[in-house]
Amino acid sequence: MKKIEKLKLENISTTYYSGEKKLAVLENMSLNVSPGEFVSVLGPSGSGKSTILKIAAGLLKPDSGKVWIDGEDVTGLPQLIGYMPQQDHLFPWKTTWQNAALPLLAEGMSKKEAYIQVSEMLSLFGLEGFADYYPYQLSGGMRQRAALLRTMLIDSNIMLLDEPFAALDALTREQMQDWLLGIWESFRRSVLFVTHSIDEAIYLSDRVYVITGRPGRNAIEQNIELERPRNRRLITTRDFTLYKQILVSALAS
Ligand SMILES: Nc1ncnc2c1ncn2[C@@H]1O[C@H](COP(=O)(O)OP(=O)(O)OP(=O)(O)O)[C@@H](O)[C@H]1O
Ligand SMILES: [Mg+2]
Repeated sequence: MKKIEKLKLENISTTYYSGEKKLAVLENMSLNVSPGEFVSVLGPSGSGKSTILKIAAGLLKPDSGKVWIDGEDVTGLPQLIGYMPQQDHLFPWKTTWQNAALPLLAEGMSKKEAYIQVSEMLSLFGLEGFADYYPYQLSGGMRQRAALLRTMLIDSNIMLLDEPFAALDALTREQMQDWLLGIWESFRRSVLFVTHSIDEAIYLSDRVYVITGRPGRNAIEQNIELERPRNRRLITTRDFTLYKQILVSALAS
């Protein structure tokens, strides 16, 4: 029997037009995410990573190619899936709980119920006691966790995460990676994660796609067979270094 992927992008090509200018961004790019799998897309700036997520979320229709979710053709159709864009997009005039509750309120849940549901999740997201804070009163890591909580509360088992930790300092970033893996182990959503960072991609993922050039094309697809649950000691192992060598040379190709 043919395996049904949670998410599948097949031979995607896309071009942006701005005035007279035409920019081919992706060419024949394919990827898939199996149920419960953690997959990363690694590529240089401008290679089309954010464009891939917009296409996966149905916010952008590709020139050619198909997007499948659970075996259904959803190309160019906006999907109710957990999509966290490259900027956290928290509303500055809303508090943590109000920002996080948006997907619940959009589904028609009452404010009272939404408040209860968000409150139950706050400690898991390291935000206990900060329900009534505005984004400017939170640290960078807390803002990202609030945005991730909002993404998590979308009733969908796919999460598309666009460089959620790029703006954080190295130590906070490592803490957030471990925290995200903990959340993922508990909820086992299918994740498509975009990053510039080779170490981050290896540390988090079951599989990594390297996208290079412009238009962005698949360079390689690499399984990461490191034990789970992961811990920082893995970073100094020979296997980790070997994966790093493979990805470095794919990025240079
Ligand atoms: N709405 C748009 N109109 C025109 N060109 C665009 C648009 N969005 C993106 N581009 C161009 O498409 C290319 C790929 O952009 P994209 O944001 O997908 O790259 P990226 O890999 O996510 O980069 P980064 O790592 O810097 O976030 C870039 O050259 C960008 O200028
Ligand atoms: Mg991007």
